[in-house]
Formats: sequence, structure tokens, C-alpha cells
Amino acid sequence: MFNFRTFSIFSFMVTLCLCEERLLIDHLRWNFFNLEDQLWEMALNSNSEHGIEKWEQDLVKGFTNINKEMKQMPQDLYYGIKPLRTNFDFPIVYAELQTIDRIYDKFEKFLNEYPKNNGISIEDLSYDIFNNKSGVQVIINKIHEIAYEQKDSLVENLTQMLHREYQCKTSEQSPQQLFYNLYNSVGLRDLKVYILQQFIYLFYLETIEITGTKLKFSRDKYRKTIDNIIKNMTMVFENPRDIWKCDPKTFIKGKNYDEFTRLLQGYIENEVDMSRSRSCRQTCDYYSFTENYGCYDYKSTFCRKNERCSEKIFGCFFVESYASMCFSDVALRRYDYIRYKSGETLGKTKYCPASNLVNSWQRWFVRCHYCVCLCDEQGPLSDRYISLRPVTANVENNSVVTGIRFIKKNRILHLQIQEGKLLSHGYIDQSTVHWVDVDDFKITDEDITSGQDFFTMSFGDASMTMDEIEVKTLHVVTGVQLKIVDNSVQLSLHVTPFNWLTGTLNLTESFQIFDSPSNKRTKFNIKNADVPILTTDPSKMHESAGEKYVEFTHTDFGKDMAQTTIPFIDIQEVASSPAVPLAGVGIYYKGNNGYGGFIAPRITTYDYSKHLNKLKSVENSDHVEKIEIEIN
Ligand SMILES: *[C@@H]1O[C@H](CO)[C@@H](O)[C@H](O)[C@H]1NC(C)=O
Ligand SMILES: *[C@@H]1O[C@H](CO)[C@@H](O)[C@H](O)[C@H]1NC(C)=O
Ligand SMILES: *[C@@H]1O[C@H](CO)[C@@H](O)[C@H](O)[C@H]1NC(C)=O
Ligand SMILES: *[C@@H]1O[C@H](CO)[C@@H](O)[C@H](O)[C@H]1NC(C)=O
Ligand SMILES: *[C@@H]1O[C@H](CO)[C@@H](O)[C@H](O)[C@H]1NC(C)=O
Repeated sequence: MFNFRTFSIFSFMVTLCLCEERLLIDHLRWNFFNLEDQLWEMALNSNSEHGIEKWEQDLVKGFTNINKEMKQMPQDLYYGIKPLRTNFDFPIVYAELQTIDRIYDKFEKFLNEYPKNNGISIEDLSYDIFNNKSGVQVIINKIHEIAYEQKDSLVENLTQMLHREYQCKTSEQSPQQLFYNLYNSVGLRDLKVYILQQFIYLFYLETIEITGTKLKFSRDKYRKTIDNIIKNMTMVFENPRDIWKCDPKTFIKGKNYDEFTRLLQGYIENEVDMSRSRSCRQTCDYYSFTENYGCYDYKSTFCRKNERCSEKIFGCFFVESYASMCFSDVALRRYDYIRYKSGETLGKTKYCPASNLVNSWQRWFVRCHYCVCLCDEQGPLSDRYISLRPVTANVENNSVVTGIRFIKKNRILHLQIQEGKLLSHGYIDQSTVHWVDVDDFKITDEDITSGQDFFTMSFGDASMTMDEIEVKTLHVVTGVQLKIVDNSVQLSLHVTPFNWLTGTLNLTESFQIFDSPSNKRTKFNIKNADVPILTTDPSKMHESAGEKYVEFTHTDFGKDMAQTTIPFIDIQEVASSPAVPLAGVGIYYKGNNGYGGFIAPRITTYDYSKHLNKLKSVENSDHVEKIEIEIN
């Protein structure tokens, strides 16, 4: 009969597995296959000396260890599968997964309390597992069918739903992540069922009739099912890994968008006040680059009311001599509109309080025209600063970047990161995930330098490149920084390799990267642009892939009297839930014809597909083949 050798099976088992960088769920499966093999081997190689109690103890010990390892998987049933809720059959799947968890918990209690059995008998468990109506064995087959196998399976339905608009609307997870989380969630439960099954088989090894064929059948069936699922998953894991945000339902400044202000602004000035010699002998066009010399006609209402441009005035042109004009009540705007006698209008006419209206501005100074120009003036109303400081996750504590957003603080645009602690097998400790406060500095602080701590945009020097940067497998984003490269603000990433099995970052190998396209970058042509938030159609994302840049500029004269600085900045948070490490970060432009659009960040989630498809090696290994079960 049997003689059950006692040796430390479990340390053996762990060393065997350190060589493979597979997904945690597959790693657990693989470990369990090994445990099983060893237990069977023990059972088969034994002779004489019956020791049923010892055998039970060994079993319980082995399964207790596996159970402990299983705790590395997120246990929350909703973990990562919330976005599937809208699927028709999801409630069924959810309820069935719940049943499996409940039965498994019972088993766990049995293990913990062994050899006492406080109301949980092995017969009960057997019934929960094997009864052909509601046993977990039946249930898991049903789950596999709904999730993967049937026509209109969850995977099929999801695949159909994943067009571009769907993605940015339900931007909790990247498409690959959706499948990854489904795979894990179902995988954890089918492994639980398999463990339950095998426990009962092994437990009853010699007391009831379990034939070798039956056992071999159950393990072959499980491995084959998993292999098929992995094969199917390999395809769907090829789905995109990016996350970005659609336009919000309602635009709210400071909450979901922000803007630079008065970088270049439409400005009206009388010739005489732009002329150093105080003459009006030129035309408006002559003033391509000048400044204001103060009110020549101090009695002019216009001149007294007009908010003076104290720096560069340029690009002037003449429209007509007679007009009425409305000064704006909005602090950031100088004017609401100008309507000329002919009817031509710059900006949008609207109700204008008498106090703001200046009619027929042609005064005694007949030959001195009023010109329409642009003003580039720094000052308390002109936010045009971009932080150049690096923003790095707390890598000393093994944290990595998990999300990103733009944010304006103290008038300076920053990239803000969300960070979380990296665990083994590409998981993030969700309890550590938080947004990191941005550097709280002001442009006026001592020891803060323009060009070093921040960048100051000005006419002709206000471009930002649109890039998507992605890193290799087993590398993650640990920081971001906006830098000046070739006179343009450009994204660069701080990247760190990590150990898959321990999750440890290798800080000595960190490096920085940015995009350097082989072709010369071209400018996004933002023409005839109105204020971005007036758009009625959702903004369209423009793929840029390192070829394009955006130049911050003013809105159209006709539509907005050139009062607004565009594009705007989308400041919505871009992060996944649950958080995962990032393989990339990008900045892109989105907009519609006729509107100024937005710049916005996007993220690329870690590529788990590189770690899938490793279970098959088990099938091919001699290790498994040599186990032949012959029990009578
Ligand atoms: C997939 O979609 C079809 C059609 O809407 C629906 O009948 C089916 O139940 C869905 N499948 C799942 C698994 O939700
Ligand atoms: C369930 O098992 C019972 C008894 O073994 C058997 O009579 C019955 O046909 C089985 N039902 C199904 C659906 O397999
Ligand atoms: C894999 O996909 C094929 C085709 O969609 C399907 O017929 C099959 O049942 C799937 N198998 C599994 C195990 O998911
Ligand atoms: C790392 O985390 C520990 C506790 O979680 C904290 O005490 C320590 O200050 C952190 N180290 C750094 C560099 O932030
Ligand atoms: C970091 O990587 C280098 C080069 O691959 C290696 O020599 C070193 O041991 C690694 N350090 C850690 C802590 O893994």
C-alpha cells in the first residue's frame, strides 16, 4: 500500500517556478500542477505502511500553502470587471463567480480548522463540487461558456463594443486591460474549482473508487480548456492599450479644462499712439512690430477705456473707419466685438451695456486710423508658463506612475502624476494609489528661473510637440518631464526596468527617453478657430506619433476678435481603475474644424500579452508526461 514520505514539497515547488515570467494566475496554476504532480508521485511511489492520517495532514499542508499563494491575487470579485456590468449576461456570470467564492471559502475554513471540522464535512464539500445540478464543476463550465465559448460570449460582445468612442467614454480601462481582468477574474475561479476537485480526489484516493482514467481525464480537461482560453486570449490581448478622455459632458474651467491666457490677443490701437514720431503718415500695415506710446488725444473715450498693451504690438491691419465697439466685462478679454459701418463684425455681437460701448470712434483726428493688431504682453492676466521640472514617482519606495493629467497651479501648467507601489507580476498595490501634489512654486519666487524651472511662452516661441512614447516589456514609466528641445516644449519619460517576479525596480538602470522623429515635424494647422468649448461636436483625436507640433496662438479675429489663447488644455485625469503600471505616456491634440481644440495626455497600460501564453510549456514538459496514474 502507500507510504507517504514527508519532505518539504513546497520549497521545491517554488524554486522550480522562478524561471518564468508568466501572469500571476498562470504562475499559480503552474505551481498547483507541480504540487499535484508531487502529491501523486508520493502516492504512487509509496509502498507498505499505511498512513492515512499522515497523508491527510500532508494534503492539508500542501493545499494550505497553495491557498496562501492564491492570496496574491486580488480577491475582490468586482476587481477589474466593473466595466463589464453593462453586458447582458454579466449578472449571471457574477452570481456564479460568487457561488464559487463561497464554496471555496468553505474549503478554506475546512483547511484552517483541520483536523477539527466545525460543521464542514468532506462529504458536504464533495456535494458542493460534484453535484450535477449546482456543483461548482457545472458552474465553471457555464461561466467558461458565457465568457469565452458561446456565440455572443462576453469576449465577443466586448470586442464589438470596443470602437474608438466607446473607449474614451468608458475610459476606466484600456481594451487589453478589460480582457486581462476578465481572464484573471474567471481564471482565479476556475483554478479554485480545479483545486477543490483535486483535493477531493486526492483525499479519497483510496477510500472510494477513483480510477486513474477519471483523474487523468479531469486534469487533461482542465489543462486543455485553459490552453484554449489562452489561445483565444492571445488574440484579444492584441487590443489597444491606450486610455484617453473624450470631451466632458459640460466644460467647466478649472475642473475639466484650463487655458493659457493673453499669449497673443487681438488689440485695437490708433496709429498715432503706435508711432514714435506721433504722426499718422503710415497705414496700419506699416505697424508690423511696435509698441504703445500713450494717449495722444487724452480726451478720447476710447483711449481712456482701452486697456493698454504695454509690450509688443504687431501684425496690424486696417478694416474700416467707422465702427462701434464693445469693451468686455470678462477680465481676460479686452473686447467683445467691433461692428463696422459696412456690417462687417469681428467677434460675436451681443448685448453691450452703454458704459462699454464706444460708437463711431473716428474723431477729429481724421487721418489717424484705428488699427486691429495683436498684443503680446506679460502680466498678471497672461498665464503662459509651463513647468520644466521633472515629476518622478517615489521610486525609493518602489512606486511607479499609474496615471497622468495636466493641471495649472500658480498660473503655471504642470503635468501631475498618479503613483502606486509596484508589486510582483505587474500588479499595483491599490491601497497606495494617489495623485502626487505638484511642485508649489511661483514664477515670482526667489531662486526660480525662467528657462530652467519653467518656460515662458511668447510670440514665435510657443510650440509643444505631440508625442507618444512607449517603452519595452519589463520597463515601466517612473516619471515625466516637459523639456525644451529644438525650441519646443517636448515630453520626456523617466523609465525604469523591474523584476517581474519580485516587482522590484532596478534604479541603477533608470533612463530618460523622448521622441526624435526622423522626419521634420509639421504644425497642426488650426484655422479659423473659435473658442474650443463652443464646439457642439465631440472633439476628434488626432494621431500624431511624433510627427506634429501645436503652436499656441489666438482665436480667429472674425469669430472671437482673437481674444482667446488656443488650444485649450484638457485637465481631466487619465488613469485606469484598477491602477496598472504604464508602458507609455503621450500628449495629443483633439479638436474639430473651426474650433481651437485641446491638448491632452494619454497613457498606454503595461503590455500583459508578453506574459501570457506561457502555460503551454507545461504541456510539453517531460515533467507532466511522466505522471501516469494507475490506481485501482
Ligand atoms: C452579447 O450581446 C447579445 C446581443 O446584445 C446578447 O443577447 C448577449 O446576451 C450578450 N452576451 C453576453 C455574454 O452578455
Ligand atoms: C445527475 O445525476 C443523476 C444521478 O447520478 C442522474 O440521474 C441525472 O441524469 C444527472 N443529470 C444530469 C443533467 O446529468
Ligand atoms: C475560442 O474562440 C473560438 C472562436 O471564437 C470559439 O469557437 C471557441 O469556443 C473559443 N474557445 C475557448 C476555450 O474560449
Ligand atoms: C517609504 O514608505 C515608508 C512607509 O510606507 C515611509 O516611512 C518612507 O518615508 C517612504 N520613503 C520615501 C523616500 O518616501
Ligand atoms: C540592475 O541591473 C543590472 C544590469 O542588468 C544588474 O547588474 C543589477 O544586478 C540589477 N540590480 C538589481 C537590484 O536588480
